Amino acid sequence: MTVAQKILVAVAWPYANGSIHVGHVAGTYLPADIFARYHRLRGNDVLMVSGSDAHGTPVTLEAEKRGVSPKEIVSFYLNEFKDNWERLGISFDLFTSTNTEIHAEVSQEIFLNLKKNDYIYEKPMFQPFCLDDNRFLADRYVEGKCPFCSYEKARGDQCDDCGRTLDPQDLINMTCGLCGGSPEIRETIHFFFKLTKFEDLLKEWISKKSHWKPNVLNFTKGFLEGGLVDRPITRDIEWGVEVPLDGYESKRLYVWFEAVIGYLSASKEWAIRKGEPDAWKDFWTGESRSYYFMGKDNIIFHSILWPAMLMGNKHLNLPFDVPANEFLNMEGFKLSTSRNWAVWIPDYLDRYEPDPLRYVIASNLPESSDSDFSWAEYLRANNDELVATYGNLIHRVLSMTYNYFDGHIPSYGSIDPECEDLLEKSDKTLLIVGESIEKTQFRKALAAAMGLASEANKFLEVRKPWQIIKTDKTHAASTLWTALSVINCLRVVMEPFMPFSSIKLKKMLGISDEQGTNWIWDRNQLIPGVDIPKPVPLFKKLDELIIEEEDTRLKI
Ligand code: MF3
Ligand code: ZN
Repeated sequence: MTVAQKILVAVAWPYANGSIHVGHVAGTYLPADIFARYHRLRGNDVLMVSGSDAHGTPVTLEAEKRGVSPKEIVSFYLNEFKDNWERLGISFDLFTSTNTEIHAEVSQEIFLNLKKNDYIYEKPMFQPFCLDDNRFLADRYVEGKCPFCSYEKARGDQCDDCGRTLDPQDLINMTCGLCGGSPEIRETIHFFFKLTKFEDLLKEWISKKSHWKPNVLNFTKGFLEGGLVDRPITRDIEWGVEVPLDGYESKRLYVWFEAVIGYLSASKEWAIRKGEPDAWKDFWTGESRSYYFMGKDNIIFHSILWPAMLMGNKHLNLPFDVPANEFLNMEGFKLSTSRNWAVWIPDYLDRYEPDPLRYVIASNLPESSDSDFSWAEYLRANNDELVATYGNLIHRVLSMTYNYFDGHIPSYGSIDPECEDLLEKSDKTLLIVGESIEKTQFRKALAAAMGLASEANKFLEVRKPWQIIKTDKTHAASTLWTALSVINCLRVVMEPFMPFSSIKLKKMLGISDEQGTNWIWDRNQLIPGVDIPKPVPLFKKLDELIIEEEDTRLKI
């Protein structure tokens, strides 16, 4: 018996300012869920946490645009996200929010610890201040002409035209995003995190991360080579986590500084809710491993900022792996909320089943380069792969079993070399899928699983049980028994990818609820004579018409 590993699956916190779309699912949530489900099946102890990122300008800007309070928008999206996870089968142990008391406490504690350890200091800064609105303006609240490309509507943090990162002071003819007035530049005191102190430690730490994905590793190394600078970690705003010191009532902790602390505060919240307040420690100390899932725009915060904060805070484990993904585009174009260029998960789930989306996205994850989603491809992969290969295999084998053997699992007769060969391939597939998932190579894992389904279809074509049944019932029995056993293996290896159908499939194979709940395939699990229910197709072929229907919806 091997000892259960403790695995923290830390999943990037979506801003509570809009719905989840296919890009988020492909970049972050589905890979995290496949990984967590697999490890649970393996018998490891998994803690999968995240929540809605409640603070920051993305949230306040959206709240202002809609004329609601940030609190309202946060609670609206928190509910929507939770409903989406449930329906899409994203199996968080806790999905919370950064707008909680415990998160504020834990963030303030880390802030004070870092300050005590001399990694935080105060320094004056110059920030745009709008006299009409009587407030400092966050970078995203100012607009002006980009000094590099002359685009007129560049924001204080970035130019959307040339993509360069900007400081508000760089803007030519800066205007206030709220009232259009001309802000002045004013001095304000902020706390800075001494990121520079960690440069060498981080380089040393990164040098041992040869198991990281090349894109994440190279990006992080490149960033470190460019040299680090100390980062301001407070802002002059009202919405956010308060600074735990007297005299700083008008300031809040910077959203990225506290959001990454969410992994820790959510782990603590989970432990408290469970009634074992110390249980979080299992996932943050000792031999436990942490895996951080996110899209590529979040890498630096998880491979540099958060590790440095953990180093400065001491005693807690640093990330073991940061398997960030690239982006999923749609028909070649970057997803965009403002242009409605995305498939929104709440809409999708109102019209279609969760597993086909999980399948289509998992088989095309942007693991090492950007990938593409389109409705035409969704339909093709559903009809030509999921239904034609996997679904069809299951349905024909179950139907023949039901019809020829009176609704019972047949007896295996004699297992000839052809059967043995396929059963051995199943053993191998279980291994390959498991190893690939452990290395966060989910596409490879799913391809191996589908490869086995194709092999099983070929096996049927060669042995033609539908003909042989008329002359040699024993031969047909061993063919179907073998195929059923292989389908039972597919049920296991597909479960992290398509949990809903694997659970249905278990019933269809006559396996009881308590059985078959782990990453084990026993070729003899299906016992001759056991009843199976009348089979119904597990997946549905979709009509070509949906492509046009969905494409029209995108153009609204
Ligand atoms: N809210 C951020 C985004 O959507 C992600 C925050 S991840 C965290 O890009 F680690 F900071 F929490
Ligand atoms: Zn103004």
